[in-house]
Amino acid sequence: MSKITAAITAVGGYVPKFVLTNKMLEDMVETNDEWILSRTGIKERRILKPEEGEGSSYLAIKAAQNLLEKRNINAEEIDLVIVATATPDSMVASTAAFVASEIGAINAFAYDLLAACSSFLFGMSTAASYIQSGKYKKVLLIGADKMSSIIDYTDRTTCIIFGDGAGAVLFEPNTEGLGLQDEYLRADGSGRKYLGMDAGGSLMPASEETVKNRKHYIYQDGKTVFKFAVSNMADVAERIMKRNNLDHTDVSWLVPHQANKRIIDATANRMGLDNTKVLMNIERYGNTTSATLPLLLSDFEKQLKKGDNLVFAAFGGGFTWGSIYLKWAYN
Ligand code: UT7
Repeated sequence: MSKITAAITAVGGYVPKFVLTNKMLEDMVETNDEWILSRTGIKERRILKPEEGEGSSYLAIKAAQNLLEKRNINAEEIDLVIVATATPDSMVASTAAFVASEIGAINAFAYDLLAACSSFLFGMSTAASYIQSGKYKKVLLIGADKMSSIIDYTDRTTCIIFGDGAGAVLFEPNTEGLGLQDEYLRADGSGRKYLGMDAGGSLMPASEETVKNRKHYIYQDGKTVFKFAVSNMADVAERIMKRNNLDHTDVSWLVPHQANKRIIDATANRMGLDNTKVLMNIERYGNTTSATLPLLLSDFEKQLKKGDNLVFAAFGGGFTWGSIYLKWAYN
Protein backbone atom coordinates (compact mmCIF):
# COMPACT_ATOMS: atom_id res chain seq x y z
CA MET A 1 0.00 0.00 0.00
CA SER A 2 1.36 3.47 -0.85
CA LYS A 3 2.07 5.89 1.98
CA ILE A 4 -0.71 8.34 2.90
CA THR A 5 0.27 11.98 2.58
CA ALA A 6 -1.89 14.98 3.53
CA ALA A 7 -2.86 17.21 0.61
CA ILE A 8 -4.75 20.47 0.37
CA THR A 9 -7.73 19.67 -1.88
CA ALA A 10 -9.81 22.87 -1.62
CA VAL A 11 -9.41 26.49 -0.54
CA GLY A 12 -11.71 29.41 0.28
CA GLY A 13 -11.34 32.96 1.46
CA TYR A 14 -13.21 36.00 2.73
CA VAL A 15 -12.39 39.62 3.47
CA PRO A 16 -14.95 42.06 4.90
CA LYS A 17 -16.40 44.81 2.73
CA PHE A 18 -15.11 47.98 4.42
CA VAL A 19 -11.83 49.25 2.92
CA LEU A 20 -9.54 51.32 5.18
CA THR A 21 -7.08 53.14 2.91
CA ASN A 22 -3.78 54.80 3.78
CA LYS A 23 -5.41 58.13 2.92
CA MET A 24 -8.13 57.51 5.55
CA LEU A 25 -5.45 56.69 8.13
CA GLU A 26 -3.84 60.07 7.41
CA ASP A 27 -6.94 61.65 9.00
CA MET A 28 -6.74 59.38 12.05
CA VAL A 29 -3.04 59.42 13.03
CA GLU A 30 0.16 61.30 12.11
CA THR A 31 1.17 59.26 9.06
CA ASN A 32 1.14 59.38 5.29
CA ASP A 33 0.53 57.10 2.33
CA GLU A 34 4.13 57.32 1.11
CA TRP A 35 5.58 56.25 4.51
CA ILE A 36 3.19 53.31 4.88
CA LEU A 37 3.68 52.05 1.32
CA SER A 38 7.46 52.34 1.29
CA ARG A 39 7.97 50.87 4.80
CA THR A 40 5.39 48.07 4.63
CA GLY A 41 4.02 47.62 1.08
CA ILE A 42 0.44 48.15 2.32
CA LYS A 43 -2.07 50.36 0.46
CA GLU A 44 -5.32 49.32 2.14
CA ARG A 45 -6.79 46.79 4.52
CA ARG A 46 -10.29 45.41 5.20
CA ILE A 47 -12.18 46.02 8.44
CA LEU A 48 -15.19 44.10 9.76
CA LYS A 49 -17.79 46.66 10.79
CA PRO A 50 -20.70 45.72 13.11
CA GLU A 51 -23.15 46.55 10.28
CA GLU A 52 -21.72 43.61 8.36
CA GLY A 53 -20.99 41.07 11.08
CA GLU A 54 -19.19 40.49 14.35
CA GLY A 55 -16.34 38.36 15.66
CA SER A 56 -13.67 36.32 13.94
CA SER A 57 -16.24 33.51 13.63
CA TYR A 58 -18.17 35.60 11.08
CA LEU A 59 -15.08 35.75 8.85
CA ALA A 60 -14.24 32.06 9.43
CA ILE A 61 -17.77 30.95 8.52
CA LYS A 62 -17.72 33.01 5.30
CA ALA A 63 -14.33 31.56 4.25
CA ALA A 64 -15.44 27.99 5.03
CA GLN A 65 -18.73 28.44 3.16
CA ASN A 66 -16.80 29.79 0.16
CA LEU A 67 -14.65 26.63 0.16
CA LEU A 68 -17.60 24.25 0.56
CA GLU A 69 -19.71 25.92 -2.15
CA LYS A 70 -16.85 26.20 -4.66
CA ARG A 71 -16.05 22.48 -4.44
CA ASN A 72 -19.56 21.28 -3.69
CA ILE A 73 -18.46 19.53 -0.47
CA ASN A 74 -21.02 18.34 2.08
CA ALA A 75 -20.11 19.78 5.51
CA GLU A 76 -21.39 16.63 7.22
CA GLU A 77 -18.36 14.73 5.84
CA ILE A 78 -15.87 16.90 7.77
CA ASP A 79 -14.20 15.13 10.70
CA LEU A 80 -12.44 18.06 12.35
CA VAL A 81 -12.58 21.87 12.21
CA ILE A 82 -9.54 23.80 13.44
CA VAL A 83 -9.75 27.59 13.69
CA ALA A 84 -6.29 29.16 13.81
CA THR A 85 -6.75 32.59 15.39
CA ALA A 86 -5.22 35.16 17.70
CA THR A 87 -8.61 36.86 18.13
CA PRO A 88 -11.15 34.18 19.14
CA ASP A 89 -14.75 35.37 19.57
CA SER A 90 -14.34 35.14 23.35
CA MET A 91 -12.27 33.44 26.02
CA VAL A 92 -13.08 29.84 27.02
CA ALA A 93 -15.82 28.80 24.54
CA SER A 94 -14.22 27.39 21.40
CA THR A 95 -14.74 29.62 18.35
CA ALA A 96 -14.18 26.57 16.14
CA ALA A 97 -17.10 24.72 17.76
CA PHE A 98 -19.43 27.59 16.86
CA VAL A 99 -18.04 27.79 13.32
CA ALA A 100 -18.46 24.02 12.82
CA SER A 101 -22.11 24.16 13.90
CA GLU A 102 -22.88 27.19 11.74
CA ILE A 103 -21.47 25.61 8.57
CA GLY A 104 -23.27 22.32 9.23
CA ALA A 105 -20.21 20.23 10.17
CA ILE A 106 -22.36 18.34 12.64
CA ASN A 107 -20.14 15.24 12.73
CA ALA A 108 -16.91 17.13 13.44
CA PHE A 109 -15.04 17.93 16.63
CA ALA A 110 -13.51 21.37 16.70
CA TYR A 111 -10.97 23.50 18.51
CA ASP A 112 -8.93 26.70 18.24
CA LEU A 113 -5.18 26.92 17.73
CA LEU A 114 -3.23 29.99 18.80
CA ALA A 115 0.34 30.81 17.80
CA ALA A 116 -0.06 34.46 16.70
CA CYS A 117 0.98 34.99 13.07
CA SER A 118 2.22 31.38 12.87
CA SER A 119 -1.18 29.94 13.90
CA PHE A 120 -2.10 28.82 10.40
CA LEU A 121 1.36 27.42 9.60
CA PHE A 122 1.37 25.36 12.80
CA GLY A 123 -2.24 24.40 12.05
CA MET A 124 -1.11 22.95 8.72
CA SER A 125 1.23 20.64 10.62
CA THR A 126 -1.56 19.63 13.02
CA ALA A 127 -4.17 19.07 10.30
CA ALA A 128 -1.75 17.08 8.14
CA SER A 129 -0.74 14.84 11.05
CA TYR A 130 -4.35 13.79 11.64
CA ILE A 131 -4.64 12.84 7.97
CA GLN A 132 -1.26 11.03 7.83
CA SER A 133 -2.22 9.00 10.90
CA GLY A 134 -5.11 7.54 8.91
CA LYS A 135 -7.52 8.50 11.71
CA TYR A 136 -9.46 11.18 9.84
CA LYS A 137 -10.28 11.84 6.18
CA LYS A 138 -11.36 15.49 6.02
CA VAL A 139 -9.82 18.19 8.19
CA LEU A 140 -10.93 21.79 7.66
CA LEU A 141 -8.31 24.32 8.73
CA ILE A 142 -9.42 27.96 8.89
CA GLY A 143 -7.22 30.97 9.62
CA ALA A 144 -9.36 33.89 10.79
CA ASP A 145 -8.58 37.13 12.57
CA LYS A 146 -10.50 40.28 13.36
CA MET A 147 -7.37 42.27 14.17
CA SER A 148 -9.40 45.52 14.30
CA SER A 149 -10.84 44.25 17.62
CA ILE A 150 -7.43 44.63 19.33
CA ILE A 151 -6.00 47.60 17.43
CA ASP A 152 -5.61 51.05 18.96
CA TYR A 153 -6.54 53.43 16.14
CA THR A 154 -4.62 56.23 17.85
CA ASP A 155 -1.33 54.25 17.69
CA ARG A 156 0.34 54.80 14.32
CA THR A 157 2.90 52.07 14.87
CA THR A 158 0.27 49.30 14.77
CA CYS A 159 -2.95 50.61 13.21
CA ILE A 160 -1.41 50.99 9.76
CA ILE A 161 -0.33 47.35 9.60
CA PHE A 162 -3.21 45.06 10.49
CA GLY A 163 -6.46 44.12 8.78
CA ASP A 164 -9.31 41.59 9.09
CA GLY A 165 -9.86 38.46 7.00
CA ALA A 166 -10.11 34.68 6.84
CA GLY A 167 -9.04 31.79 4.64
CA ALA A 168 -9.78 28.07 4.72
CA VAL A 169 -8.19 24.89 3.36
CA LEU A 170 -9.32 21.27 3.35
CA PHE A 171 -6.75 18.54 4.05
CA GLU A 172 -7.45 15.05 2.65
CA PRO A 173 -5.41 11.84 2.20
CA ASN A 174 -3.34 11.50 -0.98
CA THR A 175 -1.65 8.41 -2.38
CA GLU A 176 0.35 10.12 -5.17
CA GLY A 177 2.91 11.57 -2.75
CA LEU A 178 1.43 15.08 -2.99
CA GLY A 179 0.71 17.43 -0.07
CA LEU A 180 2.84 18.20 2.96
CA GLN A 181 6.43 16.98 2.51
CA ASP A 182 8.45 18.54 5.34
CA GLU A 183 8.22 21.11 8.12
CA TYR A 184 10.57 23.03 10.38
CA LEU A 185 8.68 24.81 13.18
CA ARG A 186 10.20 26.90 15.97
CA ALA A 187 9.31 28.91 19.10
CA ASP A 188 11.17 31.21 21.48
CA GLY A 189 9.24 32.53 24.49
CA SER A 190 11.73 35.29 25.20
CA GLY A 191 10.06 37.14 22.32
CA ARG A 192 6.77 37.77 24.09
CA LYS A 193 7.85 41.13 25.47
CA TYR A 194 8.25 42.51 21.93
CA LEU A 195 4.84 41.66 20.45
CA GLY A 196 1.57 40.91 22.19
CA MET A 197 -1.38 42.22 24.20
CA ASP A 198 -0.85 42.67 27.94
CA ALA A 199 -4.33 42.41 29.42
CA GLY A 200 -7.38 40.19 29.12
CA GLY A 201 -5.62 36.89 29.81
CA SER A 202 -4.94 35.09 33.09
CA LEU A 203 -1.73 37.03 33.69
CA MET A 204 -3.47 40.41 33.73
CA PRO A 205 -7.25 40.01 33.90
CA ALA A 206 -9.43 42.86 32.68
CA SER A 207 -9.97 45.68 35.19
CA GLU A 208 -10.82 49.37 35.16
CA GLU A 209 -7.09 49.99 35.36
CA THR A 210 -6.22 47.86 32.31
CA VAL A 211 -8.89 49.58 30.22
CA LYS A 212 -7.75 53.05 31.37
CA ASN A 213 -4.13 52.21 30.52
CA ARG A 214 -5.07 50.87 27.06
CA LYS A 215 -3.69 47.41 27.86
CA HIS A 216 -6.26 45.59 25.70
CA TYR A 217 -4.59 46.64 22.49
CA ILE A 218 -1.76 44.96 20.63
CA TYR A 219 1.74 46.43 21.10
CA GLN A 220 4.80 45.81 19.00
CA ASP A 221 8.44 46.83 19.19
CA GLY A 222 8.50 47.01 15.41
CA LYS A 223 12.25 47.35 14.92
CA THR A 224 13.10 44.32 17.10
CA VAL A 225 10.34 42.17 15.61
CA PHE A 226 11.48 43.20 12.14
CA LYS A 227 15.05 42.05 12.81
CA PHE A 228 13.96 38.68 14.22
CA ALA A 229 11.42 38.17 11.42
CA VAL A 230 13.86 38.93 8.60
CA SER A 231 16.57 36.57 9.78
CA ASN A 232 14.37 33.77 11.10
CA MET A 233 11.92 33.54 8.19
CA ALA A 234 14.79 33.45 5.72
CA ASP A 235 16.71 30.90 7.85
CA VAL A 236 13.88 28.39 8.05
CA ALA A 237 12.94 28.71 4.38
CA GLU A 238 16.55 28.16 3.37
CA ARG A 239 16.83 25.19 5.73
CA ILE A 240 13.70 23.53 4.29
CA MET A 241 15.11 23.97 0.78
CA LYS A 242 18.51 22.48 1.70
CA ARG A 243 17.00 19.58 3.62
CA ASN A 244 14.86 18.63 0.60
CA ASN A 245 17.55 19.29 -2.03
CA LEU A 246 15.52 22.08 -3.59
CA ASP A 247 17.30 24.87 -5.43
CA HIS A 248 15.60 28.06 -6.55
CA THR A 249 14.54 26.48 -9.87
CA ASP A 250 12.71 23.68 -8.02
CA VAL A 251 10.60 26.07 -5.93
CA SER A 252 7.42 27.05 -7.78
CA TRP A 253 6.07 29.48 -5.19
CA LEU A 254 7.05 31.13 -1.92
CA VAL A 255 3.91 31.53 0.23
CA PRO A 256 5.07 33.99 2.91
CA HIS A 257 3.27 35.51 5.88
CA GLN A 258 2.23 39.03 4.87
CA ALA A 259 3.64 41.23 7.65
CA ASN A 260 5.91 43.55 5.72
CA LYS A 261 6.95 43.52 2.05
CA ARG A 262 10.57 44.15 3.07
CA ILE A 263 10.59 40.95 5.18
CA ILE A 264 9.09 38.98 2.27
CA ASP A 265 11.65 40.42 -0.19
CA ALA A 266 14.53 39.50 2.13
CA THR A 267 13.25 35.91 2.46
CA ALA A 268 12.80 35.54 -1.32
CA ASN A 269 16.24 37.00 -1.88
CA ARG A 270 17.91 34.49 0.46
CA MET A 271 16.08 31.67 -1.37
CA GLY A 272 17.32 33.00 -4.72
CA LEU A 273 13.74 33.55 -5.98
CA ASP A 274 12.69 36.38 -8.24
CA ASN A 275 9.44 38.15 -7.40
CA THR A 276 7.39 36.31 -10.06
CA LYS A 277 7.50 33.27 -7.75
CA VAL A 278 6.41 35.13 -4.61
CA LEU A 279 2.72 35.20 -3.72
CA MET A 280 1.77 38.59 -2.34
CA ASN A 281 -1.47 40.45 -1.51
CA ILE A 282 -0.24 42.60 1.40
CA GLU A 283 -1.00 45.81 -0.50
CA ARG A 284 -4.74 45.01 -0.43
CA TYR A 285 -5.18 43.37 3.00
CA GLY A 286 -2.24 44.34 5.23
CA ASN A 287 -1.33 41.81 7.92
CA THR A 288 -4.36 39.61 8.66
CA THR A 289 -2.35 37.45 11.14
CA SER A 290 -3.71 33.85 10.89
CA ALA A 291 -5.42 34.54 7.56
CA THR A 292 -2.45 35.65 5.43
CA LEU A 293 -1.37 32.21 4.14
CA PRO A 294 -4.81 30.78 3.25
CA LEU A 295 -5.87 34.11 1.69
CA LEU A 296 -2.85 33.87 -0.61
CA LEU A 297 -3.89 30.34 -1.64
CA SER A 298 -7.44 31.53 -2.22
CA ASP A 299 -6.40 34.58 -4.27
CA PHE A 300 -3.82 32.71 -6.38
CA GLU A 301 -5.54 29.29 -6.56
CA LYS A 302 -5.91 29.43 -10.37
CA GLN A 303 -2.16 29.87 -10.85
CA LEU A 304 -1.22 26.86 -8.71
CA LYS A 305 -0.68 23.64 -10.68
CA LYS A 306 -0.63 19.98 -9.60
CA GLY A 307 2.90 19.03 -8.54
CA ASP A 308 4.04 22.64 -7.88
CA ASN A 309 6.52 22.95 -5.00
CA LEU A 310 5.27 25.50 -2.45
CA VAL A 311 7.43 26.78 0.41
CA PHE A 312 5.42 28.43 3.21
CA ALA A 313 7.16 30.68 5.77
CA ALA A 314 5.79 32.66 8.71
CA PHE A 315 6.92 34.60 11.75
CA GLY A 316 4.81 35.84 14.64
CA GLY A 317 4.34 36.77 18.28
CA GLY A 318 5.66 34.50 20.98
CA PHE A 319 8.00 34.33 19.08
CA THR A 320 6.79 31.56 16.78
CA TRP A 321 8.01 30.84 13.27
CA GLY A 322 8.66 28.14 10.72
CA SER A 323 8.54 26.84 7.19
CA ILE A 324 6.59 24.09 5.42
CA TYR A 325 7.27 22.42 2.09
CA LEU A 326 4.12 21.23 0.31
CA LYS A 327 3.41 19.79 -3.14
CA TRP A 328 0.20 21.23 -4.64
CA ALA A 329 -2.34 18.51 -5.42
CA TYR A 330 -4.77 19.83 -8.06
CA ASN A 331 -5.27 22.09 -11.07
O1 UT7 B 1 3.16 39.65 11.87
C1 UT7 B 1 3.82 39.62 13.09
C2 UT7 B 1 5.20 40.06 12.97
N1 UT7 B 1 5.27 41.49 12.77
C3 UT7 B 1 6.17 41.98 11.93
O2 UT7 B 1 6.86 41.22 11.28
C4 UT7 B 1 6.34 43.48 11.86
C5 UT7 B 1 7.80 43.83 11.92
N2 UT7 B 1 8.06 45.27 11.92
C6 UT7 B 1 7.82 46.08 10.87
O3 UT7 B 1 7.22 45.67 9.89
C7 UT7 B 1 8.36 47.49 10.91
O4 UT7 B 1 9.25 47.60 11.98
C8 UT7 B 1 7.28 48.60 11.02
C9 UT7 B 1 6.49 48.68 9.74
C10 UT7 B 1 6.35 48.29 12.19
C11 UT7 B 1 7.95 49.94 11.25
O5 UT7 B 1 8.89 50.22 10.21
P1 UT7 B 1 10.37 50.66 10.55
O6 UT7 B 1 11.03 50.91 9.25
O7 UT7 B 1 10.96 49.63 11.45
O8 UT7 B 1 10.15 52.03 11.27
P2 UT7 B 1 10.65 52.48 12.73
O9 UT7 B 1 9.80 51.83 13.78
O10 UT7 B 1 12.13 52.32 12.81
O11 UT7 B 1 10.33 54.01 12.68
C12 UT7 B 1 11.01 54.92 11.80
C13 UT7 B 1 10.44 56.30 11.99
C14 UT7 B 1 10.34 56.74 13.45
O12 UT7 B 1 10.59 58.12 13.52
P3 UT7 B 1 12.04 58.68 13.97
O13 UT7 B 1 12.28 58.09 15.32
O14 UT7 B 1 12.99 58.12 12.93
O15 UT7 B 1 11.87 60.14 13.93
C15 UT7 B 1 8.90 56.47 13.78
O16 UT7 B 1 8.43 57.29 14.82
O17 UT7 B 1 9.10 56.34 11.47
C16 UT7 B 1 8.21 56.81 12.50
N3 UT7 B 1 6.92 56.14 12.32
C17 UT7 B 1 5.99 56.56 11.47
N4 UT7 B 1 5.93 57.60 10.61
C18 UT7 B 1 4.83 57.73 9.86
C19 UT7 B 1 6.48 55.02 12.95
N5 UT7 B 1 5.26 54.70 12.50
C20 UT7 B 1 4.92 55.64 11.58
C21 UT7 B 1 3.79 55.85 10.77
N6 UT7 B 1 3.80 56.90 9.93
N7 UT7 B 1 2.73 55.02 10.80
